[in-house]
Amino acid sequence: MIPRPLLLVGAGGLAREVLAAVRLLPDVWNPVGALDDTAALHGTLIDGVPVLGGLAQLPALLENEHPDAAVVCCVANARRPLSRLNLVSRLGLPDERWATVVHPAAVTSGASLGAGTVLLAGVVITTPLSVGRHVVAMPHVLITHDDEVSDGVTFAGRASLGGGVFVGESAYLGQGALVREGVKIGAGAVVGMGAVVLQDVPAGQTWAGVPARPLRGESA
Ligand SMILES: CC(C)(COP(=O)(O)OP(=O)(O)OC[C@H]1O[C@@H](n2cnc3c(N)ncnc32)[C@H](O)[C@@H]1OP(=O)(O)O)[C@@H](O)C(=O)NCCC(=O)NCCS
Repeated sequence: MIPRPLLLVGAGGLAREVLAAVRLLPDVWNPVGALDDTAALHGTLIDGVPVLGGLAQLPALLENEHPDAAVVCCVANARRPLSRLNLVSRLGLPDERWATVVHPAAVTSGASLGAGTVLLAGVVITTPLSVGRHVVAMPHVLITHDDEVSDGVTFAGRASLGGGVFVGESAYLGQGALVREGVKIGAGAVVGMGAVVLQDVPAGQTWAGVPARPLRGESA
């Protein structure tokens, strides 16, 4: 099988983790470069892959040097949970351009995964279900029966969902967060690392702690 060229959007820590995953799939992916708007990175290597320039160069790269390439968006930030989907819509690529990357040590149980979604090592999805587009699940995330994961959701490492949890668009769940079964996490909400979420989190709010409460005095 001829591996598909892969361009990474973002050249930070998440990009390096995605790179490590795709290198375990040499028959599937051939990482050819990364793009990042941090000018100081241009012309450098991240773990052996060249940073080819800023995001503005993506259309020309896809048109000329890498017409068959897939693209994966490696941007995640708890303070700006909407950033990845905003970037994706700014780039305006068709779904077939977006790589869905699944680490060989992830268990997906026949779940359907949207375009651009990334599952890193040790992610477990326990039953067939649907995961949205451009979702990022970092190592050892647990997604269980009847969960609904919307587009652009980010799970930091070891975040865990009980059954029947709904996670709205672009929500961010911090490292090791635990979400009780049946709870709804609103769109663009942020759940702090280590939180234990026992009740619904309204859209756009940041909750943290055990049990989780609004961090900035917002009302539940
Ligand atoms: C919740 C979070 C987004 C808040 O970030 P922030 O807005 O910068 O908040 P601050 O660090 O300024 O902290 C504000 C207050 O919340 C508290 N706080 C922050 N995060 C907390 C958490 N996870 N649990 C409990 N309290 C927390 C701080 O102690 C501080 O309390 P104080 O006002 O009494 O001093 C952040 O702490 C977090 O958990 N991010 C996720 C990190 C993560 O999972 N990273 C993975 C990287 S791969």
